[in-house]
Amino acid sequence: MSTTTHPQWTTRFAFILAAAGSAVGLGNIWKFPYITGEYGGGAFVLVYLACIALIGVPVMMAEILLGRQGRQSPIHTMRNLAQAQHASSGWQIIGWMGVVAGFLILSFYSVVAGWAFAYIPEAISGNLNGLDKTTSGALFGELTGSPTTLLFWHTLFMLLTALVVSLGVQNGLERLVKILMPALVGLLILLVGYAMASGKFLQGLDYLFNVNFSAVFYTCQGASCTFTAEPLLVALGHAFFTLSLGMGAIMVYGSYMPGKAFIASSTLMVAIADTVIALLAGMAIFPLVFANDLTPGAGPGLVFVTLPIAFGSMPAGQFFGSLFFVLLLIAAWSSAISLVEPAVAWLTERWQWCRVRATLAVTGLAWILGIGSVLSFNYWSGPEYQWFGKTFFDLKDYLASNILLPLGGLLIALFTAWAAQRRFSEQGLALSRGFALWWWLIRYLAPLGIALIFLHAIGLV
Ligand code: TRP
Repeated sequence: MSTTTHPQWTTRFAFILAAAGSAVGLGNIWKFPYITGEYGGGAFVLVYLACIALIGVPVMMAEILLGRQGRQSPIHTMRNLAQAQHASSGWQIIGWMGVVAGFLILSFYSVVAGWAFAYIPEAISGNLNGLDKTTSGALFGELTGSPTTLLFWHTLFMLLTALVVSLGVQNGLERLVKILMPALVGLLILLVGYAMASGKFLQGLDYLFNVNFSAVFYTCQGASCTFTAEPLLVALGHAFFTLSLGMGAIMVYGSYMPGKAFIASSTLMVAIADTVIALLAGMAIFPLVFANDLTPGAGPGLVFVTLPIAFGSMPAGQFFGSLFFVLLLIAAWSSAISLVEPAVAWLTERWQWCRVRATLAVTGLAWILGIGSVLSFNYWSGPEYQWFGKTFFDLKDYLASNILLPLGGLLIALFTAWAAQRRFSEQGLALSRGFALWWWLIRYLAPLGIALIFLHAIGLV
């Protein structure tokens, strides 16, 4: 396994763009509002923000660090670093779990990205004009009710992803991301403005930021209330999901980082951009949810039912709507490529496959797995195809986001701060200030926090 062919970003800025492109995606605009709605608002948002700051940011720094020091696919990186640190080769499990999580996530991500895709022609052709609560719901229902339509867009999105990945990292989407991010932020601000003017803005803000722990963490039947830890686990899982953490995506991007680069400041920039975009999406969507009498807990369709109503009635909505779904598609695209990269990097190293072949194998498998996500919205939507009250689609999301990613993050923290020597991090991060704080977070707070939330969720603590 030679490392000479290992690709590199041309500049440090290219790394930030790629990492931000990976982080900002459907997680921010589709998933954040919909799970916030399902888990009841403010208290959930607060826990999510705390998870980002106290667990996500330190773990992200560790993951980039491991990648940059290992310089190979996550599986080989972990094997080599473990060897160098005289630790067990079992740490490779981080890489393997990451590959599995990547398949699971891509197999539903691609279907949802397909929804964004499908809404582009709808918006351009004026089919969103004048939509109201009922007709917008019907339009979304028509899309998800048709397995062939869903399969078509899922296939197209997967092909787009395969195209970029097989061209290689440096020719990828970074140039597009540079234009995309500001445009997406601009458009979200416009939507927030619209929500201010014609939505129930204060009610939306109240929902997002008014912290009411009892409403989120207690379920009551009559007078007896019991604590539920599930929102904690989902908030933690989403912190990992939205930052693309815990599966080796950021690790493999870190491995393409040029020698001296600033891990801490890059991490902060990506985390802040990612969080701001999610909060803007929430502030655009919830006022409209309340103004149109929709339910916040409507599930995965929330954004796709709510925003078209706004586009259908705002000035130049046909233009802004089309633009929005194009931008959402590109955001999803630049995220999806990072889900494929760890497995592709491993196949090219381990079996000397060329990138094209490796990419086709990985995206092909995820595509097949994605057919199950397609069917979850129609033929397999009934209770006989559900496990623990979740469809196949929900189940893959739950398993990957709320279990595999936090577990990957836990192991990354443990390896960095317990298995490897402190000097490894000190030299790698080369921080002038703040090392002690980071070390405390990665050594104690992050692993304990993740472990406690896990134990809570399975009812042990
Ligand atoms: N972060 C992306 C989003 O918010 C999704 C994503 C891309 C991801 N790569 C990942 C999630 C790796 C977990 C792990 O849409």
